[in-house]
Amino acid sequence: VSRVIPVETFDLVIFGGTGDLARRKILPGLFRRFRSGQMPEGSRIIGAARSDLDQAGYRQMIADAVAEFGGEEKKDSKGLDAFIETLDYVAIDAKGDGGWAKLAEIVRKDVVQAFYFSVAPSLFGDLAERLHTNNIANEQSRIVVEKPFGRDLETARALNETLATHFDESQIYRIDHYLGKETVQNLMAVRFGNMLFEPLWNNHYVDHIQVTVAETVGVGGRGAYYDKSGAMRDMVQNHLMQLLCLIAMEPPSQFGADEVRDEKLKVIRALQPVEPHHIVRGQYDAGPNGPSYREDAENARSFTESFIAMKCEIANWRWAGVPFYLRTGKRMKARSSEITVVFKDLGHSIFEGDEARHRNILSIRLQPNEGMDLQVTIKEPGPGGMRLIDVPLDMTFADALGPDAEEVPDAYERLIMDVIRGNQTLFMRGDEVEAAWRWTDPLINGWEARNDVPKLYDAGSAGPEDALAMMHRDGRRWREIK
Ligand code: BG6
Repeated sequence: VSRVIPVETFDLVIFGGTGDLARRKILPGLFRRFRSGQMPEGSRIIGAARSDLDQAGYRQMIADAVAEFGGEEKKDSKGLDAFIETLDYVAIDAKGDGGWAKLAEIVRKDVVQAFYFSVAPSLFGDLAERLHTNNIANEQSRIVVEKPFGRDLETARALNETLATHFDESQIYRIDHYLGKETVQNLMAVRFGNMLFEPLWNNHYVDHIQVTVAETVGVGGRGAYYDKSGAMRDMVQNHLMQLLCLIAMEPPSQFGADEVRDEKLKVIRALQPVEPHHIVRGQYDAGPNGPSYREDAENARSFTESFIAMKCEIANWRWAGVPFYLRTGKRMKARSSEITVVFKDLGHSIFEGDEARHRNILSIRLQPNEGMDLQVTIKEPGPGGMRLIDVPLDMTFADALGPDAEEVPDAYERLIMDVIRGNQTLFMRGDEVEAAWRWTDPLINGWEARNDVPKLYDAGSAGPEDALAMMHRDGRRWREIK
């Protein structure tokens, strides 16, 4: 029995409907939702972009995109034929009048309306305004906006103000696709759905927490964007901070949009400024399997970081004294994202001759092989007396749930369906985004003022030595990236 949650009939307009994100993620994702039966009969997806295409041309473009970027589902050619029937296209001029009258004619007023701004943020204001002057949007319409949501506090504020001129906060869905990932939501289920963890989830029992998001890809192909952004703006200010919030927040009174976001906001506000020696910026150098960052970014003098590691502190009752180590980088040795909670040492061992440190370590793997493992200490089997060893209690969700488990929707498709359902829980509120920039701005300004030069690391490695050293100084070590 499928457990997809039904949504109402909708018209989804994708501005930037011919763009990379639309072709790679949004439309293949929507096709999967269509196949799962979640997209109700009569719903429509309307691509809107500059290209001079017609409906047939757009349908063909999306059929090609699904063939190129889709997964298993692309084999279902009958399904694909039915799906592309739901597509329409309007050539539109975001800064002029072209196409708006036609869009107004197409978009229905009596169904859920969502407008996905998959365009440069500089166009948000134009789109928002024209949706109103052309009488297309109303108080029920929803808009979806992509990152980057600004490049600092000032620009993020300006964007929030622009959007607020035309839409209420309850209509604005700021996407952070990490929140749509299955295991990220599972983090909340693990914390708040079990008796076992929450009582230990504080500075009495936790030694430190690590968050690693390691990627193997480089920045080739998107250097122009990335070089102006770097790992801090591209990954930390949004994805890693969201993970940190979900790990550290107090239990919300219920799983509602504002309850969850209020708690996340409190975490961001309690984050302390980070000392310069607790930040390591890195940049990948050429390696056996690829060129250097500077070549990829086509900027021979770039000081942008493609890696960052930092030690953060949350000044509140629960977490005071517990470091949160964050690390993310491109072109690292493996694609691996995980959250690790390292519990404190036992204060005393009753077992003679047991000098080893035994620690419980809970690690939650976001990707690949979503799952959890918990390191526990047991007696080494056999006749050797009371000798202790540490073993993992390993649970890979795919194995645990078996082949009949429901197909896990990709982050984007899940989030888009949440938009249609009107559920903002997994989207960032304006004040959260601003608070995140308020914390990162001084760090970025700090290293710019110091003319900080990122440390080189070999492509395919675990990042610069300094990041390892930062941990060693604290008598700790990073989890191996594998
Ligand atoms: C994006 C960043 O937001 O997230 C990319 O802009 C990064 O640089 C990507 O590669 C990582 O997402 P995922 O889902 O592949 O972990």
